[in-house]
Amino acid sequence: MEFAERMSRLGTESAFDVFAKAKRLEAQGRSIIHLEIGQPDFPTPFPICEAAFQAMKDGFTGYTPAAGLPELRSAIAQHLSVSRGVDIYPNTVVVTPGAKPVIFFTLMALVNEGDEVIYPDPGFPIYESVINFVGAKGVPLPLREDVEFRFHLEDLQDAISDRTRLLILNSPQNPTGGLLQADDLAAIAELAHHHNFYVLSDEIYSRILYEGKHISIIQFPGMKSRTILLDGYSKTYAMTGWRLGYGVYPEHLVEGIVRLMINSNSCTCAFTQIAGIEALTGSQDCVDQMVAEFQRRRDATVEGLNAIAGIHCLKPAGAFYVFPNVSQLPLHCDDLATYLLEEAGVSLLSGTAFGQFGEGYLRISYANSLENIQEGIRRIETAIVKL
Ligand SMILES: Cc1ncc(COP(=O)(O)O)c(C=O)c1O
Repeated sequence: MEFAERMSRLGTESAFDVFAKAKRLEAQGRSIIHLEIGQPDFPTPFPICEAAFQAMKDGFTGYTPAAGLPELRSAIAQHLSVSRGVDIYPNTVVVTPGAKPVIFFTLMALVNEGDEVIYPDPGFPIYESVINFVGAKGVPLPLREDVEFRFHLEDLQDAISDRTRLLILNSPQNPTGGLLQADDLAAIAELAHHHNFYVLSDEIYSRILYEGKHISIIQFPGMKSRTILLDGYSKTYAMTGWRLGYGVYPEHLVEGIVRLMINSNSCTCAFTQIAGIEALTGSQDCVDQMVAEFQRRRDATVEGLNAIAGIHCLKPAGAFYVFPNVSQLPLHCDDLATYLLEEAGVSLLSGTAFGQFGEGYLRISYANSLENIQEGIRRIETAIVKL
């Protein structure tokens, strides 16, 4: 049975492939340190779980409105109005099973074949995959180490054409941990107005921030009618498996996105949505504790990597990844990632898994215990000395 032609354009997220390979090695008895997967290693805070148990007992086990329970849409709008400093209304919020559908739906709904979509490179691989899937032309916007993985304005200007329909940005960023600054966002906003394109602002790591303050492009004048704001629960509340995220859409786009929900998922799981209200309205101490722990791990990871000859690692401001430069080492980053898994039992990703501008880098997720991170770095060092 042959796939439809469009399937040849759909990519994947190689973190899942590397994770599966690492698991196979583990099943053969190998000891593996997992630094590949982007999921917090903490359990979901118990009050959130309890809210879900109670919701199940209370009968929240059926369909909900496709855009989400009104109480949850209100809680999200309230949370965003405070955290983004701009009025967000519940009728513009669409609740989705995880944040990924917001990427998929936005591209499906807004982009025609032949349109151009600018996306960050290195960046979350799903952007490029779905851009290709919908038949658009992906235009990479290079993120450069010399500006802490932000972009050069000339690169942004060069990426724009009269076919640009959408620009995707992600801050704090996967895979580099980099953070866009207010002037970066101001430049994008100005160009979006001038060239009339939409912005998909992926803010899934907005709460995992160690330095500076999260700024959203939606705060900039006139940007509410051009911005799709993506955020969710997976990273902030250690809820990757619950599948709960949301998009905030310009009002005129909401109906189409809800139709995509009806055609694909019907709705997001009802008791998960109730748990989502508890997450946003309950104590946020759990988030602060997780972020403090991530910060300790970040510091140890950066320090450990920079002590290895041939590796240079910036200290990122957010998310839970580092993106060390390994271009001085004698192995290509793809081979280095394979070597470190097979020889040293350290599972991590090559920078090229995130695009052509990831060449010469590795991505390390420090969503693992400090002890495992330190062991991982010891193993990397020992293996690299042998090269
Ligand atoms: C940048 C970015 N956006 C979106 C997502 C998707 O999150 P979710 O698990 O809520 O679908 C991820 C998950 O890895 C991510 O790194």
